[in-house]
Amino acid sequence: MSGTAQIGVTGLAVMGRNLARNFARHGYTVAVHNRSYAKTESLVAEHGSDGEFIPSESMADFVASLERPRKVVVMVKAGGPTDAVIDELVPLLEEGDIVVDAGNAHFPDTIRREAALKEHGLHFVGTGVSGGEEGALNGPSIMPGGTPESYESLGPILEDISAKVDGVPCCTYVGSDGAGHFVKMVHNGIEYADMQLIAEAYDLLRQGLGASAAEIGEIFEQWNTGDLESFLIEITADVLQHVDAETGQAFVDIVLDQAEQKGTGRWTVQNGLDLGVPITGIAEATFARALSGSVPQRAAGRAVLPAHAQEWEVKDRDAFIEDVRQALYASKVVAYSQGFDQIAAAATEYGWDIDRGAMARIWRGGCIIRARFLNRITEAYERDQDLPLLLADQYFTDAVASGLPAWRRIVAGAAQNGVPTPAFSSSLAYYDGVRAERLPAALVQAQRDFFGAHTYKRVDREGTFHTEWSGDRTEAEA
Ligand code: 6PG
Repeated sequence: MSGTAQIGVTGLAVMGRNLARNFARHGYTVAVHNRSYAKTESLVAEHGSDGEFIPSESMADFVASLERPRKVVVMVKAGGPTDAVIDELVPLLEEGDIVVDAGNAHFPDTIRREAALKEHGLHFVGTGVSGGEEGALNGPSIMPGGTPESYESLGPILEDISAKVDGVPCCTYVGSDGAGHFVKMVHNGIEYADMQLIAEAYDLLRQGLGASAAEIGEIFEQWNTGDLESFLIEITADVLQHVDAETGQAFVDIVLDQAEQKGTGRWTVQNGLDLGVPITGIAEATFARALSGSVPQRAAGRAVLPAHAQEWEVKDRDAFIEDVRQALYASKVVAYSQGFDQIAAAATEYGWDIDRGAMARIWRGGCIIRARFLNRITEAYERDQDLPLLLADQYFTDAVASGLPAWRRIVAGAAQNGVPTPAFSSSLAYYDGVRAERLPAALVQAQRDFFGAHTYKRVDREGTFHTEWSGDRTEAEA
């Protein structure tokens, strides 16, 4: 039996609820289901005016209310809960139906699930949805994977509800099986780097100028009118000017300085290690969260570790602020360049055909890292879709080069004044590493051959070699 709902959502917590409302507001008849029916009833009672909902108490009725090919969006916790809902759904679905996992699932799980449902003649689409609760309701950035066939019927609906920039949907087919969730994972990794860089810029201004949170919020507000314009800069300006009602203090000063993480940044770093992609900005941002939560170590360090740092004497306030801004922009370019390298490496490793320019294009709106500068990245990949290094695109080479003196001054100043800037510093180290004629990795290779006979290559001829370090030190082809 075929129903009349063009799309269905099971799992009506805030994200699922808002997605269902977004579909309804765009004129789709939306089947809705939740494990506890009360949530389904309250959605229809409170937001029935958004459009046409078909509530169902049982999963069977929910599935029956959907037109073929059925499109079911699962919005429950990643991991076990998602598997449980899929197991309940599969027996109720028919060949060609589509299950969409719109949670922050780990892409290997998505690859597994896609293969498993294919056995049943079903499409499984892992899709990234970025923009939080507000985005889900008013227009997220959407990154669907799965089969091209599933995108034919699902894609237009997702594009309808996605954010639009210059009339262009912030949604496109990303690539097969787990590609969508992979790209969302990298989006989150870049988000971590972006947030850490902003936090370091805030700390530099706070410690370098002794500026108040509100003053720094005004500086971010100013920065948000230029190349750094972005959602994260915008909310930072807002947060820093917010006053805690209870104490009258700057809100940021009453927040415990231990950052948490749900796991997407960690997955990104683990994958970067697996693929051998130096996503140093994302890694330092993730480890900075871990350090902030290392309570015993920080207590011990605070008690006994001397600073041996000078007081930061900033002579020219405006020049210092501009230096921090330029260092922030340069470091941000490095973090994005690394993230897009990771997407390219993954596409090769997992057999995906991912258009990085299209990814930058759908990130221009709706998602947490939405920013003016994503237009520049889109343009860079339009100039050369196989760009080996985003930093090497002329626009970015020039933009970062112009900020290099400031970047070096800030990283050096932070070191001399004892301000921790792991993301700023590692991004500059990456920049100097990736442009270096010769790296000390040659010495590392020699050391590895010395103690482990791990062999090395030569610069002057083909082949792999080993030196008899403990013998006559002759070199032999390995
Ligand atoms: C988004 C957000 C979303 C979620 C983060 C939080 O793109 O809409 O990234 O996915 O808020 O995953 O992640 P952490 O708890 O790891 O910071």
